[in-house]
Amino acid sequence: MTGTDIAHAARLLQQGKLVAMPTETVYGLAANALHARAAAKIFEAKGRPSFNPLIVHVHNANALTRYALQVPKLVHQLCEKFSPGPITYVLPKSPLIPDIVTAGGDSVAIRIPAHPVAQQLLQMLDFPLAAPSANPSGYVSPVSAAHVAEQLGAKVSYILDGGLSAVGLESTVIRIENETIRILRPGAITREMLAVYAPVEDALKPEGKAVHASPGQLASHYAPRVPVVLGDAAVLASQYKDRKVGFITLQTLSPRGDLTEAAQNLFSRMRELDTTADIIVAQLMPDHGLGVAINDRLRRAAAEK
Ligand code: TXA
Ligand code: MG
Repeated sequence: MTGTDIAHAARLLQQGKLVAMPTETVYGLAANALHARAAAKIFEAKGRPSFNPLIVHVHNANALTRYALQVPKLVHQLCEKFSPGPITYVLPKSPLIPDIVTAGGDSVAIRIPAHPVAQQLLQMLDFPLAAPSANPSGYVSPVSAAHVAEQLGAKVSYILDGGLSAVGLESTVIRIENETIRILRPGAITREMLAVYAPVEDALKPEGKAVHASPGQLASHYAPRVPVVLGDAAVLASQYKDRKVGFITLQTLSPRGDLTEAAQNLFSRMRELDTTADIIVAQLMPDHGLGVAINDRLRRAAAEK
């Protein structure tokens, strides 16, 4: 069932059930992060491999300190600037967090979402929420309640509707290593924004080979069912002229060439083309700012399954 009753969602979560919640990045599939059996339901509903850890959502920086054993000064600084918002910090895990949430690892990924509905929900609860994106493992992330309902509707107790996700791409995931910020997954908090605070290193080499990748950064991810080919849209259009081609370019995502708008539209467009086209032709965005995160998703969508 879909609705806007935050108190109802809170009660279901208190009972150890699964609730889809809106965030400013994408919708999350949430459960009590302190309750191993509730968290286990997330892996089952998504078909998520058990080696892929979950993000823990908290409502403020104090709660963040509670679930991390230690929080570097740099993270406090970043938090002040970028949280609540689309950034996730990988930190040493407190024993309060069950092993299943971190896939047995000794670090925990924590995020403070900015979406007002997620904020209100977290404030009603005395536990944090483990929540990956609310899509079947490997498929495109949902940016609306309807997207969640299409695929996971039967597997969640409630879908909390908070409208379209404003950012449209999953959060930037970072880890601090020797005073350096390592970007494990690019997102709306860009390398340029982070570089003001400390040296930044990407987990991904230009050719897309993961070096210190997040466990969940499998090459193929965020992928529609129809094939996605990357390249020059005009060249590929003539190459595939006998097929029903769907195009993803900066132009088709944002006629005025705005990367923020392009990010907002990316996953909705992928889902739409997955039902209307039989091949998707995608042309990479300019490789700066949000373009880096969009290109990361496009490359993964095009990677071999
Ligand atoms: O914007 C988002 O981050 C959304 C919303 C719902 O918050 N969540 C999301 O979760 O995208 P998910 O599970 O789809 O992606 C989480 C990413 C995965 O790539 C996972 O491997 C990585 O974060 N991750 C989680 N815990 C980690 C850890 N302890 N160390 C390194 N990477 C971690
Ligand atoms: Mg995901």
